[in-house]
Amino acid sequence: MAMTQTQLLHELEPVVAVELDRHNAMAKEWFPHEYVPWSEGRDFDGVYGGEAWQESDSKIPEVARVSLIVNLLTEDNLPSYHHEIASTFGRDGAWGTWVHRWTAEEDRHGTAIRDYLTVTRAVDPVALERARMAHMEQGFQSEYGTMLQQLAYVSFQELATRISHRNTGKASGDEGCERLLARIAADENLHMLFYRNLLKAAFELDPNQTMRAVTDVVTTFQMPGSGMDGFARKSLIIANEGIYDLRLHLDDVLMPVLRQWAVFDKTGLDGDGEKAREELSAFLAKTDATAARFVERREERRARAAARQ
Ligand SMILES: [Fe+2]
Ligand SMILES: [Fe+2]
Repeated sequence: MAMTQTQLLHELEPVVAVELDRHNAMAKEWFPHEYVPWSEGRDFDGVYGGEAWQESDSKIPEVARVSLIVNLLTEDNLPSYHHEIASTFGRDGAWGTWVHRWTAEEDRHGTAIRDYLTVTRAVDPVALERARMAHMEQGFQSEYGTMLQQLAYVSFQELATRISHRNTGKASGDEGCERLLARIAADENLHMLFYRNLLKAAFELDPNQTMRAVTDVVTTFQMPGSGMDGFARKSLIIANEGIYDLRLHLDDVLMPVLRQWAVFDKTGLDGDGEKAREELSAFLAKTDATAARFVERREERRARAAARQ
């Protein structure tokens, strides 16, 4: 008999408590203001009559700017994410403590990135504010209705944002930006560990249902910011630069987490659980082929571009 959502939440609560203690012991306090070079700042036009932003103010390459904006807008939608996880996990007991702790930690990310970009004039602050309004006005709604699907989703998503922040920092060619994004990426990694360990415990409680949830999520995964204006074009730019692409998604996000759960070594699956695992295998093989093709074409394009220069 498959466990109900309520049973699963109840059974997992002691695991949440253990993971919370582990998380709190591992998490290092840090201060966004220390990561921002305030002395580089100067007034903008408008109220203080300074200079309006212009493209030549930015020291950061165009591609990295696109990625920084996607990452920042993604962080900005935190109120919607909070709503999603608070509705699914609840706001009581250990679950509630986690939901609020996680939200408080995430809230630093958008604040710190925005301060950094504004002070260093890395991006157009007017375009950024308009994009934030448009993006947040859309909100974010999870594609996934069950707690297990949501747990699977956030396990992958936290790792995906970790990789994306880290590689965006590198692509910025700006030491301070890279330092800040590496700091944020370390937070995302701890978030991933929390969710990944919880889902591992869910596998023990109800392997078939958990396997199904994992397959449903892996085969339909979208980045949390995918609803933003121009996301398809922006994610192509980001993929062409190698900041985040299908190869990284498969090798550095999906596979490490699936390996930790030992999904392909699991015994005791049957019925729909076994079927879900087969679907997952087929999907991963197909994704691997698509990723290989993408990388091959990108290499060809880069070689052609190098030859032209
Ligand atoms: Fe974040
Ligand atoms: Fe996170």
